Amino acid sequence: MSNENQQPTPEVEQNPSSDKVSPFLSSPLPQGAPQGQQQSLQQGLASTPTGSVPKYNLPRGANTGNVGQTTHFGYQTVNSDDKAQKVAEVFHSVASKYDIMNDLMSFGIHRLWKRFAINMSGVRRGQHVLDIAGGTGDLAKVFSREVGPQGHVVLSDINESMLNVGRDRLLDAGCTNVDFVLANAETLEPFADNSFDLLTISFGLRNVTDKDAALQAMYRVLKPGGRLLVLEFSKPVFEPFSKLYDFYSFTALPIMGKLVANDSESYKYLAESIRMHPDQRTLKSMMEHAGFQSCDYHNLTGGIVAVHRGFKL
Ligand SMILES: C[S@@+](CC[C@H](N)C(=O)[O-])C[C@H]1O[C@@H](n2cnc3c(N)ncnc32)[C@H](O)[C@@H]1O
Repeated sequence: MSNENQQPTPEVEQNPSSDKVSPFLSSPLPQGAPQGQQQSLQQGLASTPTGSVPKYNLPRGANTGNVGQTTHFGYQTVNSDDKAQKVAEVFHSVASKYDIMNDLMSFGIHRLWKRFAINMSGVRRGQHVLDIAGGTGDLAKVFSREVGPQGHVVLSDINESMLNVGRDRLLDAGCTNVDFVLANAETLEPFADNSFDLLTISFGLRNVTDKDAALQAMYRVLKPGGRLLVLEFSKPVFEPFSKLYDFYSFTALPIMGKLVANDSESYKYLAESIRMHPDQRTLKSMMEHAGFQSCDYHNLTGGIVAVHRGFKL
């Protein structure tokens, strides 16, 4: 079942205290900046001296409420409530070098993976798209063009440093139909129920502490007839290839991280977090459990990456 013939009909939530009503937000964005984006970014972080690692005042909903419970951060076991902060520090550290590192680490292949996911999205003019954990905006930039002036794209991320890079890049590229919103994928709290035709999360889900909560939040904000695409590292299907891939990830990536971004630890986390992420079949059942229907996946580059797709009927 697909949304090919569905016309976008945004559910508008009226808020009497605002003179701008967004059809996508459960409460209006802070006002005053173009599309409301600047203030919504500033809200997310406590101000810090330039260059220091900020103490993150993460968006509402970042705390899992799992006091005393543990989870994994790469191969480390950490308190569930500390993981969001640790992930935030990783992406704050790599934000300015994120795009170049992606090209180097994947030999540019991440662009093909993303293109494949975009082709599976069925995106059409006039649609409303949310790119979750969208970071520097690779997908949002393409969707901005595809949906056209009657459509609308939200680039959302939990991390202000990543979102700042994405916002500058998309505004420089003339994307005038994009909003930039700090939001935790676990709750997607700023967004109203049933408000998007298409959701994407690209290389973001493995960083989220409570993935089931995130999938449920995605189901909530997706319109009936809409689709979710999850592009993520997955489990290589060919065992000898897997050994080579392990060697590359645990040896070469941290060295590249050190040389280019002066940060080997973040790239060690990358390699570890990939190994801890649910495999193809597990993620498919998690999507089904969250309510998505007709779920399937496609392996790319021998299962190094997979695109999962699910629909809300
Ligand atoms: C590897 S980057 C992917 C960026 C972009 N989607 C891409 O494909 O290039 C992962 C992104 O997930 C974001 N992220 C991590 N945890 C998150 C959460 N709980 N909610 C929203 N975004 C999160 C990070 O801040 C980071 O920007």
